[in-house]
This record gives sequence, C-alpha cells and structure tokens, in this order.
Amino acid sequence: SWTMVNIAEEQIEAIRAQVGDKRAICGLSGGVDSAVAAALVQRAIGDQLTCVFVDHGLLRKGEPEQVEKDFVAATGVNLHVVDAQERFLDALAGVVDPEEKRKIIGREFIRVFEAAAREIAFGDRSEARIAEGGSSRGSGGSSPRGRQGEDAAEPVEFLVQGTLYPDVVESGGGTGAANIKSHHNVGGLPDDLQFRLVEPLRALFKDEVRALGEQLGLPAEIVWRQPFPGPGLGIRIIGEVTRERLDILRDADAIAREELTRAGLDREVWQFPVVLLADVRSVGVQGDGRTYGHPVVLRPVTSEDAMTADWARLPYDVLQKISTRITNEVREINRVVVDVTSKPPGTIEWE
Ligand code: XMP
Repeated sequence: SWTMVNIAEEQIEAIRAQVGDKRAICGLSGGVDSAVAAALVQRAIGDQLTCVFVDHGLLRKGEPEQVEKDFVAATGVNLHVVDAQERFLDALAGVVDPEEKRKIIGREFIRVFEAAAREIAFGDRSEARIAEGGSSRGSGGSSPRGRQGEDAAEPVEFLVQGTLYPDVVESGGGTGAANIKSHHNVGGLPDDLQFRLVEPLRALFKDEVRALGEQLGLPAEIVWRQPFPGPGLGIRIIGEVTRERLDILRDADAIAREELTRAGLDREVWQFPVVLLADVRSVGVQGDGRTYGHPVVLRPVTSEDAMTADWARLPYDVLQKISTRITNEVREINRVVVDVTSKPPGTIEWE
C-alpha cells in the first residue's frame, strides 16, 4: 500500500541518517518483528548490517532453514549463523523447573550472541579486542555457514531491535537498552550491552509490521508467522529437555501446523502451541499391540494481544485429522488431548 511505501522510505532515510557508515548487527529469532526490522535496515545500509542467528535447537521444524535460506534469499543480508544446539542441550540437562529453563536459555543466548558480535567485529572469539589494524581476523573457519561483513576490524556500533509500539508503551516509553523487554529476545539482553539501538518499528503495530514485511518482499511464511516464545520448544516439553524429546515434539508440532494451514485457519488462530507431556505415559492400543506412549496437548488459542486468550474452537474434523496423523506418524505419541482453558486462568504456554 501507499502508506507502507511511505513508511518504508521514511524509515530507510532515518536509518541511514542514524547509522551513517558504521556497522550494525541484528539478532534474528525467526519471528516477524526481527525479520522486518532487519530487512528494513538492510535496505538502508546494505552490507554494513550483519544478522546473527543463534540456532539453539529449540525451534520448530523448518525454522532454521527458513531463516538461513528464505530470509537470506529474500533480502540478500549478511548472515552469521551459530550452531549452539549442543551447548543449549548441555545447559538444560536435568532441568525441569520452567523458570530455571527460561533463565538458562536466556543466559546461554546472551553469551552466544555477544560472542558472535565480537566475532563479527573483530574476527575472533577472544575477549580481548584486537586493536585496529592489528592482527588478522582469524581463520574464517569459525563461521562455516555464515558470510562476514567486509571490514572485520571495524567495531559494531549499532544493535537493531524489532521493538513495536505496544512494547514501547508497555515499558514506559523510555529509551536505551534497559528498555528492551525480556519477551522480545530470549530473556532479554543485558543493560550493559555496548550498542546504540536502531528501532525502526517503534511506531508500528503488529499488523503494520506485517504489511511492511510484505512491502519489503519477505516470504509469507515469515510475515504471517504466529508468535513463538523465545525459549521455544524448551518450554513446551513438560519435563527435562532432551534431543529425543525435541524431535518428537517437532514432528507432532509440524503436523498440527500443517493441518491448521491446510484448513485455512492460520490467521484466525493466534497461536497453536503443541505441548509434550514427556514424563507422562498412558496405555494405548495400536494394530495388534499395546502401546505405552506419551500424550501431546493441543493448545490453539484466539487472542488480540496475548494478555488474555480464549481456547480456539477448531472444527472437529480438523482436530480429528491432527489426532489421527500424530498418533499414526509419531511413534512415541499414543494420545492427543485438547486444552480448553481460557487465559486467565491458564496461560497460553504450559510453562
Ligand atoms: P503466556 O504463556 O504467558 O504467554 O500466556 C503470552 C505470550 O508470550 C509468549 N511467551 C514468551 N515469549 N519469551 C518470549 O519471547 C518467553 O519467555 C515467553 N513466555 C511466553 C507466549 O508464546 C505468548 O505469545
């Protein structure tokens, strides 16, 4: 639309004026806000921007690929990918408590992100900042799937954030790193992060961000993606998070999403968590045999802003299709239940 063309052009000018010839980084979560913010900044300053994607292994099926391939294809952005799956799994081993999971995931995310920022700026992983014109930027082997900005000796001054207008209002309208809402990233970035912020979406609501994303040519799968929590599938496994459990949940979740899309209900449903009750087993029967598998919970909700929510009245035939497919296709799952709790008293997520 005209409005979106204007907003895009206005913001691109403003970003150029703010950033000048300096460098910027942007963390990509796979969500729409960070993607649109990054795409906009990329239009403004091109290769001065490097995006960082921390693959913590808690994403849904196809999401890392979406960021790595589709987003890069649509924008041509420099992308620095960190495969941190092992690190997150190790840190989460044995942890059951939801808040503890969140803290660990947030902490690990910040460490990995900061290390990536240093690596982009200075070309190595050391704490020590290499003096300008100093030693080389290292082997380059540390980022096998990423491309580096051209001048790695230049420090990164700016951090791009996908902060929206409701975030600004909710957090009191202040400025500065302390203002970054924790739900915006995984656990939030620390106050002492040494960056100046670029927040090109500060005046926009979610629907406007989506329109802008379309205007910028981002794929529909990114633009129309439902909200997804920073801690990802880590808080949708009730019990310890393990690689095997993540794989089970990813399979079940992919089926639920596929059927929702097939039914044309993506935009009616605010979010559709699928939750694995990993420490629960129940008896079932399949073919000739008795099974003793795990249940998954379907948690489709409608909402305006996630502050309150209602359980979505999905058509019975859609529920039935999801149930049949999950129990047929995911060996470890023998029971599918639907959560019919509104928020309050339930939250959208189970943890
Ligand atoms: P609840 O479960 O509190 O969730 O009803 C409200 C909305 O926030 C999302 N959510 C999170 N997002 N980090 C995030 O980035 C988190 O720790 C987190 N916890 C919940 C949730 O998916 C829903 O959209």
